Amino acid sequence: MTTASLPAGLTIGPLTSDADARECAHLMATSDPWITLGRGYEDSLRMVRDPTREVYVAKAQGELAGFLILSMTGPFVGYVQTVCVHPDHQRRGVGTVLVGFAEERIFRESPNVFLCVSSFNTDAKRLYHRLGYDVVGELTDYLVRGHSEILLRKTIGPLAGFRSG
Ligand SMILES: CC(C)(COP(=O)(O)OP(=O)(O)OC[C@H]1O[C@@H](n2cnc3c(N)ncnc32)[C@H](O)[C@@H]1OP(=O)(O)O)[C@@H](O)C(=O)NCCC(=O)NCCS
Repeated sequence: MTTASLPAGLTIGPLTSDADARECAHLMATSDPWITLGRGYEDSLRMVRDPTREVYVAKAQGELAGFLILSMTGPFVGYVQTVCVHPDHQRRGVGTVLVGFAEERIFRESPNVFLCVSSFNTDAKRLYHRLGYDVVGELTDYLVRGHSEILLRKTIGPLAGFRSG
């Protein structure tokens, strides 16, 4: 994603400080869907600090506007584990550019982006539908009883013949 295509004043870059990691974990632990899914601060912090993941933060005038956690290893290479936008920065295009950033990063190495969205998360489902994600399947009672995780995929082609670049 080029800087020119970001909303004014927004920057996206790798997570570099533990203070930012703590702020991301706090944001996650105080936001739905994670409140409903029962993921507290310590679990969130473990996810943000997981060395097997890539974490990118979006900042607006130095303040945390949102963040992304990506997995580039394992059975689903190119899995967007978390997209989170601070409530003060929602509905300004930050979520859209974070997902676009994830796609650019992932499509350099793999032709698929995967992610899960909770069945009750209507805002996020609308975002991913608008961005061209297809439903692959439904994992019923996956994280908590009574709610599903919907597996989504966006693809630029089959694995056969894909060249990373
Ligand atoms: C879901 C989430 C990531 C969306 O982030 P966001 O920054 O609000 O997303 P965007 O601003 O790109 O798009 C949201 C809406 O704002 C609209 N919008 C974007 N820029 C806008 C602007 N400048 N002015 C007015 N509206 C705007 C979009 O068109 C979109 O409208 P729609 O919902 O009717 O389609 C965010 O709500 C969030 O973090 N929620 C909590 C955590 C979560 O659910 N994460 C996803 C887990 S799978």
